[in-house]
Amino acid sequence: EDVFLNGRFLSPAEATLSVFDRGFLFGEGIYEVWAVVGQRIVDTESHLKRLDRSLAECGLPTPPERDTLPQILTELVRRGGLTDGFIYLQITPGAGERDFTGTADTRPTLFIMARKKDLLGAPALESGMAVDLVPDIRWLRRDIKTTMLMPQVMAKKNAVRQGLKDAVFYDETGITEGASSNIFIVTESGAVRTRPLSHKLLPGCTRGRIVALARDHGIQVHEQAFSVEELLTAREAFVTSATSLIVPIIQVNEKTIADGKPGPVTRTLQKLYIDYIH
Ligand code: PDD
Repeated sequence: EDVFLNGRFLSPAEATLSVFDRGFLFGEGIYEVWAVVGQRIVDTESHLKRLDRSLAECGLPTPPERDTLPQILTELVRRGGLTDGFIYLQITPGAGERDFTGTADTRPTLFIMARKKDLLGAPALESGMAVDLVPDIRWLRRDIKTTMLMPQVMAKKNAVRQGLKDAVFYDETGITEGASSNIFIVTESGAVRTRPLSHKLLPGCTRGRIVALARDHGIQVHEQAFSVEELLTAREAFVTSATSLIVPIIQVNEKTIADGKPGPVTRTLQKLYIDYIH
C-alpha cells in the first residue's frame, strides 16, 4: 500500500510534506488521475501529455522523475495490489516562504498514490444519475488540471445535500462540463454532441478517447456547444471521466431526460469504451 513522494516509495504514514509547501499555502499545483482496470493503466500517455502541458502553462518545474513516471505508476499498481482502481498524481513547486511571487527553495513536490476502487461496479454506470445544474463560477483556465478544486467540491457537496449525485456547470454560452467530467448529449439524429475544447473546459482524456471510438464505429460526433435547454430536451446525455468512465444522466434537477432511462447510444458507447479499457 505504498505511496510515492519525492523519489521514494513510502508507507502513507511516512509520507509527510512541509507546511510551507506552495501547494498547501497557495493551492499552486496540478494533478492527474488515471483509471486502472484489470491491472492495466488506461491511456498512460495522453494523461502524461496533459500533465506536461499543465506544468508548462503554470510555469511549474518538471520533477526529475518525469521520464520514469510510466515505470513508477506501474510499480505503484503492483505494490498496491490493485486490480481495479485509480492513480492520483500531484505536483507542486515545493516549499518556500509565503510570498506570492516567490519560488520554492526546495525541489518540486511529486506525490503519487494508487488506490483500489471497483470502477466497473459503480451502480450509476447501469442506472444513470441525477445531476444539479450550477452556474460555472470557476476561472477561465479550466483547460489546466489544477488542484484549485473549491468550486467543484462546493458544487458536488451541494448536489449530494439535495439527494443528487453530481453537478454540471453552465455559463452564458451553454453547458461547460461536469464538476469532474466532460458532458455529451445525443441529438435527434443519433449523433453525439460535446463542447469543443477551449479555456472553458478540461480536455478530458476519456472525452478524446470516446470521440475517437464513436467516429471509428460510425457514430457522428459534433464538437459544438449546447445550451441548458438542449440538455434538458436531449434524447440522451452522459458524462465521461477517467474514474467514472461513462455515466448516463437520467435527470437534471426536477427534469427527467427523455424517458428517464439510459439510452441506446450511451449504452453502445459504454460498451465500446469498456471493451477498449479491458
Ligand atoms: N477529473 N473536467 C473536469 C473538471 C475534471 O475534473 C475531469 C476529471 C474531467 C475528465 O477528464 P478525464 O477524462 O481526463 O478524466 C473533465 C478527475 C477524474 C478527478 O478530478 O478526479
